[in-house]
Amino acid sequence: MPQVTYIEHDGTAHQVELEEGLSVMRGAVDNGVPGIDADCGGECACATCHVFVEEAWLERTGEPSEQEASMLSFAATAQPNSRLSCQITMSAALDGLVVRLPEAQH
Ligand code: FES
Repeated sequence: MPQVTYIEHDGTAHQVELEEGLSVMRGAVDNGVPGIDADCGGECACATCHVFVEEAWLERTGEPSEQEASMLSFAATAQPNSRLSCQITMSAALDGLVVRLPEAQH
């Protein structure tokens, strides 16, 4: 299964194997990775699953949709490489993906 590495704000890294078709948010929540709240359960309606995609992966993860970009505007620490992890779907092409977690989601 493809693997994702989540890096907490303090540098703690978590490697998770994630079935294709599941979201990067789901991989964190289901595997006890702290730092992703996912209040809306993956409906692109809360912005509490905010992550920073490592530069090398930006092209493969793609651009946020209009709705996602609008939700990201509510994330206090949003940067150009910000994404909502519920909107990144795992695939073989994303095997090895690295995302960093913000210090807080609110
Ligand atoms: Fe709510 Fe991603 S879980 S926007």
